[in-house]
Amino acid sequence: MHNNTPSTKMMRLSSYFVVAIALLFSFTPSSSANTHENFVQCLYNYPHNNNVTSISNVVYTQANSSYSSILDFSIQNLRFSNASSKPLVIVTPLTVSHIQATIICSQRYGMQIRTRSGGHDYEGLSYVAKDPFVVLDLINLRKIEVDAENSTAWVLAGATIGELYYSISQKSKTLGFPAGVCPPVGTGGHFSGGGYGFLMRKFGLAADNVIDAHIVDVKGNLLDREAMGEDLFWAIRGGGGASFGVIVAWKIKLVSVPSTVTVFRVPRTLEQNATEIVHKWQLVANKLDEDLTIRINFGRATSENGNLTVQAQFESMYLGGVDQLIPLMQESFPELGLVREDCIETSWIGSILYMAGFTNGESTDVLLNRTQANGVSFNKGKSDYVRDPIPDVGLEGLWPFFFEDEGQSSFVQFTPYGSRMDEISESEIPFPHRAGNIFHIQYGVSWQEEGDEEAQRHINWIRRMYSYMETYVSKSPRAAYLNYRDLDIGVNNNKGYTSYSQASVWGLKYFKNNFNRLARVKTNVDPLNFFRNEQSIPSLVSKGRKL
Ligand SMILES: Cc1cc2nc3c(=O)[nH]c(=O)nc-3n(C[C@H](O)[C@H](O)[C@H](O)COP(=O)(O)OP(=O)(O)OC[C@H]3O[C@@H](n4cnc5c(N)ncnc54)[C@H](O)[C@@H]3O)c2cc1C
Ligand SMILES: *[C@@H]1O[C@H](CO)[C@@H](O)[C@H](O)[C@H]1NC(C)=O
Ligand SMILES: *[C@@H]1O[C@H](CO)[C@@H](O)[C@H](O)[C@H]1NC(C)=O
Ligand SMILES: *[C@@H]1O[C@H](CO)[C@@H](O)[C@H](O)[C@H]1NC(C)=O
Ligand SMILES: *[C@@H]1O[C@H](CO)[C@@H](O)[C@H](O)[C@H]1NC(C)=O
Ligand SMILES: *[C@@H]1O[C@H](CO)[C@@H](O)[C@H](O)[C@H]1NC(C)=O
Ligand SMILES: *[C@@H]1O[C@H](CO)[C@@H](O)[C@H](O)[C@H]1NC(C)=O
Ligand SMILES: *[C@@H]1O[C@H](CO)[C@@H](O)[C@H](O)[C@H]1NC(C)=O
Repeated sequence: MHNNTPSTKMMRLSSYFVVAIALLFSFTPSSSANTHENFVQCLYNYPHNNNVTSISNVVYTQANSSYSSILDFSIQNLRFSNASSKPLVIVTPLTVSHIQATIICSQRYGMQIRTRSGGHDYEGLSYVAKDPFVVLDLINLRKIEVDAENSTAWVLAGATIGELYYSISQKSKTLGFPAGVCPPVGTGGHFSGGGYGFLMRKFGLAADNVIDAHIVDVKGNLLDREAMGEDLFWAIRGGGGASFGVIVAWKIKLVSVPSTVTVFRVPRTLEQNATEIVHKWQLVANKLDEDLTIRINFGRATSENGNLTVQAQFESMYLGGVDQLIPLMQESFPELGLVREDCIETSWIGSILYMAGFTNGESTDVLLNRTQANGVSFNKGKSDYVRDPIPDVGLEGLWPFFFEDEGQSSFVQFTPYGSRMDEISESEIPFPHRAGNIFHIQYGVSWQEEGDEEAQRHINWIRRMYSYMETYVSKSPRAAYLNYRDLDIGVNNNKGYTSYSQASVWGLKYFKNNFNRLARVKTNVDPLNFFRNEQSIPSLVSKGRKL
């Protein structure tokens, strides 16, 4: 493939090499307070096959003057920027051997690993942990190779989706990829947890379009799809990468998009009959033409007479020109009252910029910027799935939440399912939310003030809203989306073993019946549960005993 990830043949050789090293580096229990010094020494001593990319250039301890800027750079939620426990060491690998060294030495010196790609985890799991830990930050592994002729690409896991979209657009105007909306989101976390955007109704999730991957496992072996086997390859497409190893690269299948697409954003307040229009939207959103996706963003607004109101912003992409879109809307969703003047014709990459909020003719280069355009805030998110339309009375009970203080900087987003999402079976990949879902809800609240009290106030607000919605959303389990990680729905034990049934409390919500297979895969690839976090898949092996 390229310098950073060797070809398959090379890879097999190097995996044998690593097995040998792992044996040489026999495991000794961790002991003293200078664990991390020994750990760093272990990284330096680990055999690397070239010195140009010496690991010593990419190891940052807390004493290093660059430590904080590197740690903070990819923190996307200020709630975790002052966490009491910071990583003892940050490694920003340049090569696979740096990842292998980190995995082997961490086990030797009793350190946990948190792997970070884009740092968007809603609960900061990629850079905060309670036990002594190292952050493996993939920021330097972001090469992308687009093969337009074969409609595929190899993407290193530290690349962002913005970088991917940019690279695709440099090669072709009629190829795209069905992933998320926010350009700085990392492919490492995003693809391994699902990943959706405006192409989901036609093409499914990002994870549905992954066709190969490279992962370094707990023994330090670099494995491709063939070497890892179909069980592990299944697990990392929607089951989250963090439970299984460190994903180095993805091979993805690109999809065909027309040279002209149409986008619009149409706001309707309560005074403009938002409730009735949303009611109608719920009856059609998942049944619309697969080329048409209309999602809704709700937020607080001020109406003409100066009163607070709720605004429903209908945000849409259509894979085609405005001449086809207008009659389609008149036929299927006339209640919105869409007119030609609301619409903008652009390219697919133009739609990416538009949805990301770049509407002032910015160059596609902005997609390469890893800094969040509207700044980083304190925030908390949650998610739900809706299988039966929410009655008007349900919607009317939701609106007052936006008028509370904490509702000022909050949003609720309805994203329609249907089409391709109905066709893919629930067990095809670990992401189980398929046929039967009309739409997906994301709840979000953000704030700018520091302090526990402010945090608690806003978190309580979103928990109350979530609790209010219980009546109207999926049940048994109340389903949730892994990529909108929410520790409120359940966590593993802080210390010691977490049983399968305990973990099922949260696991069934994210994965439904796929949770069991995930646990079996975990047991095979990481029985001793080295790769763990608050919501990692549990191993069925406890203290060497298979349960
Ligand atoms: C502003 C914002 C916008 C978003 N928009 C969308 C959207 O449009 N659609 C959507 O589906 N989701 C969206 N998300 C959610 C996003 O998909 C998840 O937060 C995703 O997990 C982020 O991936 P990351 O690499 O940036 O995060 P990270 O925090 O780096 O990682 C998330 C998790 O994956 C693990 N991980 C990361 N890289 C690897 C790797 N290489 N190997 C193994 N494990 C790894 C981490 O350890 C952590 O557990 C958004 C999130 C935010 C904050
Ligand atoms: C790398 O550098 C070390 C010391 O700087 C040297 O001993 C070693 O031979 C070098 N290895 C390679 C492969 O060049
Ligand atoms: C910080 O770490 C980098 C990378 O390992 C190293 O090059 C640099 O010399 C270190 N700086 C300090 C002040 O320790
Ligand atoms: C983190 O703590 C420092 C020092 O106490 C403070 O100056 C800073 O504002 C805090 N940042 C956040 C985001 O809470
Ligand atoms: C397309 O794939 C074929 C078969 O794998 C390969 O031989 C060819 O080189 C690829 N094309 C490009 C442009 O890489
Ligand atoms: C809202 O609906 C009512 C009744 O259907 C209608 O009379 C009114 O014109 C609508 N208002 C707007 C702004 O569309
Ligand atoms: C909105 O404003 C009008 C007057 O402009 C007032 O009569 C009405 O009570 C207000 N409604 C709410 C819900 O505050
Ligand atoms: C990246 O985006 C941030 C936030 O909008 C901005 O401040 C910064 O200047 C941008 N960087 C570059 C190189 O354009």
